[in-house]
Amino acid sequence: MKLDTKDHIPRQFSIPRIRTKILLIVLVALALLYFGPGHIFNQQLYSSSKQIYHATNSTLGFQKIFVLNMPHRHERRRNMNALARVHNLELTYAKTVNRDEANKQAIDNGYLINGTHLACYLSHLSLYRRIIAENIQTALIFEDDVDMEWDLKKRHKQIMDEVQLEYQDDWDILYLGHCTSDINEPQEPGMTVELYEAEYPMCLHAYAVTLECAWRLLMLLEERLKTVGKDIDLILAVGTQFGAITVLGASPPYVVQVGRQELTSDISLLSEGDTAQRLFHSTLFHLRYRNTDPRTLPRYIQVP
Ligand SMILES: *[C@@H]1O[C@H](CO)[C@@H](O)[C@H](O)[C@H]1NC(C)=O
Ligand SMILES: *[C@@H]1O[C@H](CO)[C@@H](O)[C@H](O)[C@H]1NC(C)=O
Repeated sequence: MKLDTKDHIPRQFSIPRIRTKILLIVLVALALLYFGPGHIFNQQLYSSSKQIYHATNSTLGFQKIFVLNMPHRHERRRNMNALARVHNLELTYAKTVNRDEANKQAIDNGYLINGTHLACYLSHLSLYRRIIAENIQTALIFEDDVDMEWDLKKRHKQIMDEVQLEYQDDWDILYLGHCTSDINEPQEPGMTVELYEAEYPMCLHAYAVTLECAWRLLMLLEERLKTVGKDIDLILAVGTQFGAITVLGASPPYVVQVGRQELTSDISLLSEGDTAQRLFHSTLFHLRYRNTDPRTLPRYIQVP
């Protein structure tokens, strides 16, 4: 038997080859670390974040919550801050368009409505512009005169679970509250809140929109200002009937308007009937921030 150790050592174990191998392994490992698993991991995170709605987080599962408010409306601001505190909500205040500004724009652009109706209309439009400019995927919009059920997050989660189950990301507008009865909603509301496809949703005090829908609303509603000239919620309700958008509603509403009778600081803006609606357990009444217990109020407002 020949014992030539030199020949016995396989050539690939020679020192330079080992070095090259180690270097290769290290390089591959580094590459995997930086581009491989990290990339896959990010993709998984991305796709699962589209499915999971954190319906009970501080923005109720949307990217942002906006509140349309004039800074000088102290009573309304106080109420909204109280609601935010109790329900742990992160609110972003957005300034509304005032009446004078609105009337000036009406003249400049030939709009067919004016006054507070136009001011309200333009305030919502300016929020759609902001949603588009800031690339906000889903935004919840509150007007500043709302009250909420004490178990807001529980009800909201029921609704968002339903949305996820039946529509995933495939919806355009979601009303957490509306103010007149809808033909499609459950007629006998139980203790749990139910999701329905809205036929004629009225009032814009609590609704969510997707980014894509904000684009469409902006185009539709701007044009209608010059051709139809009615209140924004009416135009939207009609648009819902004829447009190819998915509009969802919650029944019974869990975010409602306080009503103009109770918001004393704004009585001068009153033009129509009261907008107060029923709640089972009102947050603001519980906090003694309003005098009327909304349990005793009608479910929906009377349309003048
Ligand atoms: C709440 O969850 C949504 C996703 O469902 C997310 O877009 C939003 O940023 C979250 N809000 C906060 C304050 O983290
Ligand atoms: C608003 O419109 C009404 C009805 O068209 C009109 O009578 C009124 O003068 C207008 N007000 C302003 C401030 O333009």
